Amino acid sequence: MDMKILVVGGGGREHAIARALSCNSGVKLYTAMARHNPGIASLSEGVLLEKETNVRAVADFAKKSDVDFAIIGPEAPLEAGIADTLQEQGVPCVGPTRMAARLETDKAFCRTMMEKHGIAGCPHYRVFQDPGEACEYIDAYDGDLVVKPIGLTGGKGVKVMGEQVDSEGAKKYARTLHGGVVLEERLIGEEFTLQAFVDGNHLVPMPLVQDHKRAYEGDTGPNTGGMGTYSLEDHLLPFVTPSDYRDALEIMRNAVAAMIAEGQPYRGILYGQFMNTRDGPKVVEFNSRFGDPEAMNVLSLIRSDFAEVLCRIIDGTLSPAHVDFAKQATVCKYLVPQGYPDAPVAGASIEVGDYGDALLYYANVGEKDGKLTTLTSRTMAFVGLGDSLEEAETKAEKAAAAVKGGVWYRHDIGKTSLLDRRIAHMKGIR
Ligand code: AMP
Ligand code: GLY
Repeated sequence: MDMKILVVGGGGREHAIARALSCNSGVKLYTAMARHNPGIASLSEGVLLEKETNVRAVADFAKKSDVDFAIIGPEAPLEAGIADTLQEQGVPCVGPTRMAARLETDKAFCRTMMEKHGIAGCPHYRVFQDPGEACEYIDAYDGDLVVKPIGLTGGKGVKVMGEQVDSEGAKKYARTLHGGVVLEERLIGEEFTLQAFVDGNHLVPMPLVQDHKRAYEGDTGPNTGGMGTYSLEDHLLPFVTPSDYRDALEIMRNAVAAMIAEGQPYRGILYGQFMNTRDGPKVVEFNSRFGDPEAMNVLSLIRSDFAEVLCRIIDGTLSPAHVDFAKQATVCKYLVPQGYPDAPVAGASIEVGDYGDALLYYANVGEKDGKLTTLTSRTMAFVGLGDSLEEAETKAEKAAAAVKGGVWYRHDIGKTSLLDRRIAHMKGIR
């Protein structure tokens, strides 16, 4: 079936979305992105270079290109109401409305909604509009807290007491958050990501993935957008028991049901970031989109026609029978500029070598005199696939090592030694 699809966003995640869609030869892709992404552009019939939050311009481009529907990669355009604007123009959208996207964009809404609907896995939390009251709470609280701005922060706005800050540092940070602050109990455990396709009513899960937010090896250094990810051939993780998995899935299903009850049905990709604790999985956050890098793991594995899955999300006819992923392991390694994330060096040239049968996804790259250069965000990622984690890691590592120039990456992501540490950590907690 011939289809025209608009992809909004220009990073590694959106390159993975575009590539998965382009496996269907009947699909013509149109893309709207703030900055030229050579990987996405090479798959597209038409490109709009425009800020993704300029929803009016994106909707005009969708109409002009006569697309059948759109899929939204990043959260910022969702917060700006892109799904609402597209729908007003008669363009269906895989991505929630502005109100439904508050699951991600408004951390106070997310926690209040979970509490109101009795959804399991909600950490103890308090919402403060007044930073002074937040500081009093920090002083009175017996234990470590996590300080979160209510709004979007690109994954870098959370400060964890006992990890990045002490209580003085937490208060100092809270005082800067004039738009409101959520304080919540610090959860201890192992994090994992559960992403799902949601058509308003039905939810179909994707393979579990583990992300690495910290910049440096051994999970040290500042938080980043995510340095890399892995998933296993059974689509589970060894530190998540079958009962933990069922609980996490149930939490996601209950969140979807709660959004219907709120009169804001959720349609799109739902991303659950979980902390697997002594007491089972707790929700660190929901995102209203694919994860970046997590999208690259799961979309490199998808075997069913991704365009058809998206059509079913729009029609409300999604079921597990329509979604199939290869039973392989994946390792994704992000290459980032020297100095990233604190003082990234842009403009350094990079040369991609022989990357074997790994998949290359471009993210934030520039071009100068026909050569690729770094910009200030994550540059590009390689995904290795294999029948085992070791095989997948070897492919991703070899591909990444063959890149010359001003980039670096974490060698430890996807190594079995790292996985063994995770398993031991979880054993120690339980
Ligand atoms: P977020 O921006 O909400 O994804 O948070 C970024 C990171 O902060 C998460 O991936 C966690 O590692 C950490 N984090 C967030 N909330 C909590 C929490 N309640 N307890 C412990 N760590 C947290
Ligand atoms: N990888 C984390 C995120 O996309 O939010």
